[in-house]
Amino acid sequence: MPKITAAKVIVTCPGRNFVTLKIETADGVTGVGDATLNGRELAVASYLTDHVIPCLIGRDAHRIEDIWQYLYRGAYWRRGPVTMSAIAAVDMALWDIKGKIAGLPVYQLLGGACRSGVMVYGHANGETIEDTIAAARDYVAQGYKAIRLQTGVPGMAGTYGVSKDKLFYEPADSDLPKETAWSTEKYMRVVPELFAAAREALGWDVHLLHDAHHRLTPIEAGRLGRDLEPWRPFWLEDATPAENQERFRLIRQHTTTPLAVGEVFNSVWDCKQLIEEQLIDYIRATVVHAGGITHLRRIASLADLYGVRTGCHGATDLSPVTMAAALHFDLSIPNFGVQEYMRHTAETDAVFPHAYSFAAGDLHPGDAPGLGVDIDEAAAARFPYRRAYLPVARREDGSMHDW
Ligand code: GCO
Ligand code: MG
Repeated sequence: MPKITAAKVIVTCPGRNFVTLKIETADGVTGVGDATLNGRELAVASYLTDHVIPCLIGRDAHRIEDIWQYLYRGAYWRRGPVTMSAIAAVDMALWDIKGKIAGLPVYQLLGGACRSGVMVYGHANGETIEDTIAAARDYVAQGYKAIRLQTGVPGMAGTYGVSKDKLFYEPADSDLPKETAWSTEKYMRVVPELFAAAREALGWDVHLLHDAHHRLTPIEAGRLGRDLEPWRPFWLEDATPAENQERFRLIRQHTTTPLAVGEVFNSVWDCKQLIEEQLIDYIRATVVHAGGITHLRRIASLADLYGVRTGCHGATDLSPVTMAAALHFDLSIPNFGVQEYMRHTAETDAVFPHAYSFAAGDLHPGDAPGLGVDIDEAAAARFPYRRAYLPVARREDGSMHDW
C-alpha cells in the first residue's frame, strides 16, 4: 500500500493568499490539495496542521473514500467551510497520488471524458455599460462562449465585481475589510439596461451571465429575473442568500430566468432542498469548499436526478490546484453546465505550474498523471502570507447588507 509518511501545509501569497496541502507517501509520490478559504486562510492551515495531518500519517493513500468518511464522520463538529475545505484538500491530494501511481489523469479514474472540453465563462466588468461591453468584446475575441457581465451602478461608489483591473482583479484587497455602499433600487435599474445593450452589441450567440452576490430579497430577485428575461441570460447567480433554501420558491414563481447558487455551500445538505424541489438550474458548489472531488461527485449525482447542472465556482481565490481538480471533475460528469474561470496572475501560475490549457472557449485539464498541477515550493517561499479581506457592504442608511 502507498503509506502516507508526511504531509505539510504551504501558505503563500503570489498576489493573493493560497493554502496548499502536500501529502507524501513512503515511495516518495506526492499529491497536492487546495485548502484556501478567502479571508480565513490561517484557520484552515491550523485545522490541517494541528488536527488532520497527525491522523493521516501511516494511512493507506489509496483509501480515498474511507479517509473522507473518517475525517467527516470522525469530527464530531462536522461540516462548515473550515472543516470541509480541509477535507477537500486531503481528498484532492489523494486523487492526485492515485492518478500518479496509476499513470493516468484523474478524469480517467472518474470514468473518462464525457466531452471534448470544459466550457468556461470569463468576467467582463466596467464602471459604465460601455466599458463592460468593451471588456466583453475582448472575451469574445479570445474565443469565450460565455461571459459574466457586471457594471458600475450610477450614483454608487464602487460596485461588486467591478474593478479598474480587467483580466486580473482581486476583490480581497485590503488588510481590514473595506466598507462599500449598496442601493438595491439603483442596482435593479442598471442591470436590465446592461443586458439590453449587451445583446444589441454582442448578438445572441454568446452566453451572458450575471452575479447578484446575495444582495436581493426573493421578490426583488423575481423582479430582476423577469426584467432580464427578454435578453435570455444563461443564469442569474446568488440572487438571494440561501441559508433558508425555501426562499427560492418565491423567485421561481416569478421568473423563468435560470438560477444558479451555491459557491458558499459546503455539503450536499446545503443543496438538498434546492435540488429536490428543482428550485435552481445550476449548482455552484466547488471542489475546495464542498469536501473535494469525492463529495462534489455526490452533489452532482443528486443534481443529475433532477435535471440540475453544475457551474462550479472558479474565482481567483480558488487556487490552480482547485481549478485543475474542477476540470477533471467537469470533464467526467454527465450533467456539467459551465465552469467559472477568473484568470490567475503570472506570479500565481509560476508558483503552481499546471497542465490545463485554454482553447476556443474551453479549458482542458491535460493528460499528465494525477491532477496535473504542482506547487513550486521555492517560488512559494518568496511570497509570504499577507492578511487580506473582502469588503463589506452597507446600505445607504449605514446598516449592514450581505456582501
Ligand atoms: C464569483 C464570486 C467571487 C467571490 C469570491 C469570494 O462568482 O466569482 O462571487 O467573486 O466573491 O470568490 O471569496
Ligand atoms: Mg459569485
